This record gives sequence, structure tokens and C-alpha cells, in this order.
Amino acid sequence: MRKISMLINAKDKTAYIHPEIYGHFAEHLGRCIYDGIYVGENSAIPNINGIRSDIVEAFRQIRMPLLRWPGGSFADEYDWKKGVGEKSKRKPALNTCWGGITEDNSFGTHEFMELCELIGCQPYITGNVGSGTVRELAEWVEYMTFDGDSPMANWRKENGREKPWRLKYLGIGNENWGSGGNMRPEYYADEYRRYQCFCKNFSGNELFKIACGPSSADYNWMEVMMKNLDASHVNGIALHYYIMPVWPKEEPAAEFDDKMYYKTIACAYFLDELIHRHTAIMNHYDPYNKIKLVVDEWGCWHESEKSGNHGLLFQQNTMRDAIAAAISLNIFNRHSKRVVMANLAQAVNVLQALILTENEKMVKTPTYHVFDLYKEHQGGEAVYCFCENVNMAEGMNTPMISSSASIKDNIMTITLANCSIDEGAEICCSICNFDAKGVGARILTNDAHAYNDFDAPDKVVIEDYQAELKNGILSVKLPACSVAEVRVRR
Ligand code: AHR
Repeated sequence: MRKISMLINAKDKTAYIHPEIYGHFAEHLGRCIYDGIYVGENSAIPNINGIRSDIVEAFRQIRMPLLRWPGGSFADEYDWKKGVGEKSKRKPALNTCWGGITEDNSFGTHEFMELCELIGCQPYITGNVGSGTVRELAEWVEYMTFDGDSPMANWRKENGREKPWRLKYLGIGNENWGSGGNMRPEYYADEYRRYQCFCKNFSGNELFKIACGPSSADYNWMEVMMKNLDASHVNGIALHYYIMPVWPKEEPAAEFDDKMYYKTIACAYFLDELIHRHTAIMNHYDPYNKIKLVVDEWGCWHESEKSGNHGLLFQQNTMRDAIAAAISLNIFNRHSKRVVMANLAQAVNVLQALILTENEKMVKTPTYHVFDLYKEHQGGEAVYCFCENVNMAEGMNTPMISSSASIKDNIMTITLANCSIDEGAEICCSICNFDAKGVGARILTNDAHAYNDFDAPDKVVIEDYQAELKNGILSVKLPACSVAEVRVRR
């Protein structure tokens, strides 16, 4: 058991943790929307207007604050007009990004907005810049948000929705350096300026406009955006980062050795350097922190499962993924001054999913449980949290303990991950400037390869746990490969 010292200073508040840091993403890809979230009104699976009730309940439980839709790459070929109106009359389209399958458009704007209302989360719409037009995007915004007499608002009303929706988050394109049009950053920056100009604030609705940002460590893309856009055009710039321990991907999610495990951990920790460096560029051009960093897509991307009828980019989700999620969320909490949103890819049946479904069955993955353990950070004030760490794997940046802390309503939430695959840790944490009176804890722990499956849905679940508090010193023992939430009240 390794002894680790920590220090938390409750007086040293670093930033507000925007709930949207715990955001999610659902694309028309594989079985994420169809089968995963939407089964149609006539399905035998319990549903609300076609939306799976079990999924809504699960999303509500982790207080999902935001959902991004319809893509991803799909967004840049999406024709929103085909996805509204009488379902039997909706025109199909071809999903050329993901499998060349026919998209029947039965899940469109109204269904997505209803889903968000059921969950109680903010909708985040990504507009089509790659293959659409400025007019189409401008009209979509009018359709969704205009309260009054206008062609698009009247069409919305004919389609059954009298009152406009509130839409805050609007993405102007997706990965326009790649699937969204293969654009150079200078060209995209000009296109962005033109598109955003016609996306208006109607009827008291205020858009938070998000520009396509860099892929991973493309610092030049960030530099060009910051040089060419200012806070009068843009509210956020979207970074995409996937944890890909091997490229090309060769191994399914549950098959890895210790070396690959630590490679994954190092890739997760790389997010910290990435955000530091992108933030440094943003600080240079925007020292007053007006333009925010949005981590639009993040998560582990492994080789898809080959067996069964799983659909595109379906991968299992083990404790290794849970540890990677815990590390990433602690990093976002620590950077919450600039980072105001982060969306895990993706919500159901795709990549590092929260939930996997098979007909009427569903399982909550270890990653889902991490979001449950971390949910109390939403809307808290991040506070200084230092850990005297040790490195786990030679030649890779793999600190044993990942941590962050925040305070909300007189309760301090501390989240900890022991990233070691085989060694426990005994944490001894001084909590300063906080009159700590009581403590409670919950833990998620298992073998790094463990996962939940349809036949064994509760193999990896959260359990109540012991932590001790004496004279402002918190002690907690973390087994190898574990994620814990400790709640200290004053
Ligand atoms: O999340 C899967 C895909 O990854 C998204 O469609 C795209 O934006 C990214 O490349």
C-alpha cells in the first residue's frame, strides 16, 4: 500500500465548475440514436413518444446537463428540413459518414428537443457548414427560437410546437479541417464569420456560438482561430481529443496488457498538457478570458467489437475506461476557468458509451458510474488540490493518483482515481480552511479488465465506502484501479 499525501485549501477557489463540463454527445452513428435512444412509438420497449424510458431515467440519474446532436461528422451532411413534419412524409437521406445506410429522419429536431426536455438538459445543436448553406442554418435557428409570425416559426407551429425552444449552444460546423469540408484554418475562420453573422438572437434567446476548434495538438488551428475571431463573433472554440492508445486500432476494449493499460492512462493525462497549451494561446489573444474552450468530443476510442450485431463503433467499456474518464473529468475541473463544456463521445452504444443496449436490455457501463460519482462537482467552486504523486510506468506520464475538489452548499466533493493496475494507495489529505465535521464516501473498483454485460449488468457498480476524518485530516484507502467520491461537510 503506497502512502500518498494531499493538500486541499478551501479558501483557494480556482473557478466555477460549469455543469456542462459533464456534457454528452449523441450522433446518428451506429446504434446511438436508433435502437439506443429512439425506438419509435410502436416499439414494445417502454418509451415516451418513441424515446426509451430507461435511457431517460438513467440520464436523469447522473444529472446530464447537456446533449450535443446530430453529430459529429453527420452534422455536416444533415438536412434538418427532412427531419421535421409528419413522420410518414419525411424524406429519407443517405448517411454517407457512417455506413452508407438510409436515414429515415424519424428522429429530428422535435424529437431531440423532447429528449432534452425529458432529461432536463440543455440542447446543443451542431449546424451544417460543410455541405449546407448559411440560409439553411439561419432558418434552423429561426425555426427553433423565433416567437412570433415568421415563415419558419409558423412551420414549427404547424408541426405541433407552438412555443419556441430555448437554444443556447450552437456549433458552427464540426471538424471542418476534416470530414466537415477539408478546410484550411484561414478559410474556415472566414466561413465561420459569415455563418455566425446570420445566426440571430431571436425573442430573448441568446446563442453561445461555438467555432470548430483543433484536432488534438493542432496548435496552429487554435492560433489562426484566435487571430481571426474575437469575442464579438465567437463564445467558444471546440477541441476534439480521443484517447487512442494504439493507432491503427488493433485491440478491442477489453483486451489489453499492462503496458497498453498505462499507455491509455498516459493518453488520458495528455489532456492536461493539451489544455494548458491551447489555453496559453487563448490567453495570449484573449487575456480577459472571454472566449471559452469547449472540449466538444472526448473519450477512449478502441477497436470496435467484431462479434454480434453491435453496429458501428460499438466497443465494450471496462474499468480502464472508467479510470480514463475519472482522469479526464478531474483535468476539466482543474481547468474550469477556461473550459466550460466537455462532451463524452458518445452517450449510447458508440465509443466510450455511458450505456449499452440490446433490444429491451440495457447496461450502465463503468464510465456511467464515474459520472454518477462526479455529479456533485456540477455547479461547485473548484478549490486548490495538490497531490504528492508517484509515477506508475517508466517513460510515460502516469501519476498514480488523479484528483480534484470543489465546494458547493457547504459540502466539499473530492474525486480520486487510483490509476495503478495492481497497487493500493493510502491517502492522507490535509484539508485547510474548512471546518470539516463529517465524511462519507462511495467507490467504484474492480479488475482493470472488468465490465458490465447484458448477462452480468452489475459486475462493476458503485458501493458505499469508508473514509476517516480526524482534526482536519482525511484518510482513505484506495484499492488498485478505483475511482472514489469523498464528501466532506462542515
Ligand atoms: O465521435 C465519432 C466521430 O469522431 C465524430 O463524428 C467526429 O466528429 C469525430 O471524428
